Amino acid sequence: MRTPIIAGNWKMHKTVAEARALALAVVEGLEPDRRVEVILAPPYTALSATAEAAAGSEVEVAAQDMYWADSGAFTGAVSPPMVAELASHVIVGHSERRHVFGDTDDDVNRKAHAAHSHELIPIICIGETEVERDAGRTDEVIVGQLAAALQGLAASEVRSSVIAYEPVWAIGTGRACDPGEAARVIGLIRNWLEAEQDAEAAVSIRILYGGSVKPSNIAEYLNHLDVDGALVGGASLEAATFLPLVACARDVVAESGERRGS
Ligand code: PGA
Repeated sequence: MRTPIIAGNWKMHKTVAEARALALAVVEGLEPDRRVEVILAPPYTALSATAEAAAGSEVEVAAQDMYWADSGAFTGAVSPPMVAELASHVIVGHSERRHVFGDTDDDVNRKAHAAHSHELIPIICIGETEVERDAGRTDEVIVGQLAAALQGLAASEVRSSVIAYEPVWAIGTGRACDPGEAARVIGLIRNWLEAEQDAEAAVSIRILYGGSVKPSNIAEYLNHLDVDGALVGGASLEAATFLPLVACARDVVAESGERRGS
């Protein structure tokens, strides 16, 4: 059985004080015994405050990115050991990193390796642009990004990674991907893992959907058994919209848990 994940990516939002308040609101608002993994990804400056607010709770903390080198003359960058002091997870390959900051498939792969070397779980984001989708290249792009990101990882590292399928055109646009289509692409990812990695990875890895997820549409995604949760931007910025996502995931587990991952 795969435990669903609801991860909030706060992007370039929240000062330290705002992050602390939101993290505390999430921690205090979560119902116990929820069988859902909850991850908060604040900006670097608020990692420490978020980790303090989450201490003693089941809420986990992620960085939104990192550089792969352990240390050195890399002005503005943050290293895996720095992140590992404060977080359990790190997002790598988010489309904003790829398209605004120029991260390549090779960068994403280096970051995935660096994460595992420092016992951080990478949340590896992949997704096609609108141009690629319109050209009928979605599956090829997804498989290409996936193969590049996982290149050279040990089987155990692949299994413990988290994948997020985030169609670029659905991020922050309010144009969420059709849930059936998101589930189809996630199924494609699982089939590729089974064919090219190992059957255990295909069964055990968590694959999330991301792109304009909100309380009113999340159930449509989670009802597909291949979809193991959501990576959420806009709707993660307030406890009032984030907590219902976790509650929905809990309800879906309660209803379909025994079939998940079988
Ligand atoms: P969104 O962002 O929920 O605001 O579309 C998703 C993401 O970037 O992970």
